[in-house]
Amino acid sequence: MNPDLDALKPYPFEKLAALKAGVTPPGHLSHIPLTIGEPQHAPFEAALDTLVAHRHGMARYPATAGTAELRGAIAAWATRRFGLGDLDPATQVLPVNGTREAIFAFVQAALDRSRPAKVAVPNPFYQIYEGATLLAGGQPLYLDCRAETGFRADIEAVPAATWREVQIVFVCSPGNPTGAVTPLSEFERLIALADEHDFLIASDECYSELYLDEAAPPPGLLEACARLGRHDYRRCLVFHSLSKRSNLPGLRSGFVAGDAALIAAFKRYRTYHGCAMSLPIQHASITAWSDEAHVRANRDAYRETFAAVTDILAPVMSFPAPEASFYLWPAVPGGDDEAFARALYAEQNVSVLPGSYMGRPASDDGMGRPGQDGTNPGAGRVRLALVAETAATREAAQRIRRFIENFIERGSAC
Ligand SMILES: Cc1ncc(COP(=O)(O)O)c(C=O)c1O
Repeated sequence: MNPDLDALKPYPFEKLAALKAGVTPPGHLSHIPLTIGEPQHAPFEAALDTLVAHRHGMARYPATAGTAELRGAIAAWATRRFGLGDLDPATQVLPVNGTREAIFAFVQAALDRSRPAKVAVPNPFYQIYEGATLLAGGQPLYLDCRAETGFRADIEAVPAATWREVQIVFVCSPGNPTGAVTPLSEFERLIALADEHDFLIASDECYSELYLDEAAPPPGLLEACARLGRHDYRRCLVFHSLSKRSNLPGLRSGFVAGDAALIAAFKRYRTYHGCAMSLPIQHASITAWSDEAHVRANRDAYRETFAAVTDILAPVMSFPAPEASFYLWPAVPGGDDEAFARALYAEQNVSVLPGSYMGRPASDDGMGRPGQDGTNPGAGRVRLALVAETAATREAAQRIRRFIENFIERGSAC
């Protein structure tokens, strides 16, 4: 087998299972998991109806490019949402089976192994960026996202010599796990750096539709391009998904959009890879990309949950003010995220993900640079996925608060 498989790191949930092994939580409390980023709100019913109505499309092989109708619906949505002016559905859009497979596959298609192949990833991060890089024969470059830099990567700290070895920069906005939103000015700066040092920007925007302020939707990379008059979206690709927007993670539907040359090469790769989207799913996706009312209702539900949880937790934990995504990223009292997660589970039967499981000590990439002290930037925090209905999430927050109050009273480490 490919020896690069051995370079893959254990998935955060494997580590969590090991951490909880042997712990027996109190039987009188039901288990509340705040660990997995899987939406629990109801899926968009109209899309499911469309899926069923078009079930006989399963009798046909779909094309890698998807139908013109689907690409048209996606281009219309992206143009509306990000004020693009134009996005050519024929050459600048490609449907994919969710952002996870697209992110993974894009790195395999894009990385040139004949020269230094660094891939810059935010740190902490969604593990697929790293795994895709390792399997494509590249080297991850971990860019710490800490409180001091608004939980976004400090791109100014990367020396020019390092940028020259970078082939792809991943942005995750809104961020998992931090919820941080990349402003347009930062996208613009990254585009300038991409031109200067000849790298590609892959912007994972799968949480872009889950934001708390209805008047302030998170900006996107293509929006930044459009504002610069860069309608060819050169070097830029965005990744979008129906998983969070429409509560349809099982549909496996998303798209990539941007630079036509990148899309053409990626489509060629995908034709061999064999990952075309089935026709019923394409039809269901058209229904979902064409409706905003269900997405607004989804945001309303998250807003209610966030308000309840932040009210309960703010007196006992510090966290960045949530703007978007469905995660809260609090610092834990005592500073040991693993001990906190284990003891919380043992005392309150609530599961949370230690932040260090989603990050790496930046020194792991072997490239020293200013502004990074070599510690894991996820350490000392936990990720709370606020995906369940408000009542269950509120109950979890109350238990976390009780746990911390007991902890403070005991005056001892977890
Ligand atoms: C940052 C990020 N990107 C991509 C994905 C993959 O989502 P999907 O493949 O369902 O579009 C996830 C899923 O949790 C995620 O958190």
